[in-house]
Amino acid sequence: AAAEKGGYDTFMEKEINDQPHAVADTLLGRTDERGHLVLDEMGMSEEDLRAITKIVIVACGTAAYAGMVAKYAIERWARIPVEVELAHEFRYRDPVIDEQTLVVSISQSGETMDTLMAVRHAKDLGARTISICNTHGSTIPRESDGVLYTHAGPEIAVASTKAFLAQITASYILGLYLVQVREGNEEGVAEVMSELQAIPDKIQQVLDGMDRVKEIARFMADTRAVLFLGRHVGYPVAMEGALKLKELAYIHAEGFAAGELKHGPIALIEPGQPVFIVVPSPDSEHGLHGKVVSNIQEIRARGARTLVIAEEGDEDVVPFADEVIRIPRSPALLAPLLSVVPLQVFALELSTAKGLDVDQPRNLAKSVTVE
Ligand code: G6P
Repeated sequence: AAAEKGGYDTFMEKEINDQPHAVADTLLGRTDERGHLVLDEMGMSEEDLRAITKIVIVACGTAAYAGMVAKYAIERWARIPVEVELAHEFRYRDPVIDEQTLVVSISQSGETMDTLMAVRHAKDLGARTISICNTHGSTIPRESDGVLYTHAGPEIAVASTKAFLAQITASYILGLYLVQVREGNEEGVAEVMSELQAIPDKIQQVLDGMDRVKEIARFMADTRAVLFLGRHVGYPVAMEGALKLKELAYIHAEGFAAGELKHGPIALIEPGQPVFIVVPSPDSEHGLHGKVVSNIQEIRARGARTLVIAEEGDEDVVPFADEVIRIPRSPALLAPLLSVVPLQVFALELSTAKGLDVDQPRNLAKSVTVE
């Protein structure tokens, strides 16, 4: 068992540290010698892909947060409307779906019953279905028209980590493929692909700089509630950070959109309340960086303990941060692949400090095969 864990104490620790490989392997072999994306298991002709008018992403848990991240990128790049919905909610609404809808399911295991039922429902309604999945030959990809496998390797720990990064990577590849098929724009596609290729080394840099995050987590072992704040692609990252903390450390945690702060959550801020803030890149459009820096200022003024995840070189956050956790610079849409890592490490370390079983948290299953 020790060998299976690659020298780490737990699968969770191994899988978090595997993430540079999970992303690199998911990117591997997707382009031909001319730099064109080649996805040969799409199960749809290019003509069909050009006819798509809407994408609906269905998933549960961490995979649904990967879908939320993907929405920002796919809409931005491919200009196709994307909805993201929890599979169990999608299934029992009366969703507006037709032959020109592409339903993309995201599932590590490929066996989550809620997600499978959503895929079957989508097929019944005439939609085309593509599965983003980490498990070869599992039920969801078998029942879908097409598949794009993530190559994160087996994920053993119940709470998902490396599969999340691989799911974002794969859905980005899908988005770029849609750009290629529908618009040409080879240069744009190649540029993002090369930025993605640079991500594994940057994840490694984040992992190499986690000593302080682990220290903070150990100090916080008695914490009762932690809030997570993010905006744009940082919003699903905030929710994923909260989910990891609930799952691994049984701490009440909530992730919310930074812009929503003033509409309610700011009432929760009292002296000493720890809040993680996922700060957008200073290069972000629409002044989002400045807006989130103001949020940090507001909650700090009310006594929050601010744990700020910000890009290297972002000095604007420093006056309002109790702690600054640095991630390398990257294009705004790729930042989730970096900013979630400290949140995973934090949850792992806090869980360990509480003496909990990080690989097998209470009440949870790796793959939920019942509705
Ligand atoms: C379970 C796991 C989660 C996972 C979710 C979806 O609840 O505990 O970690 O995110 O299922 O699993 P899937 O295999 O469909 O990605």
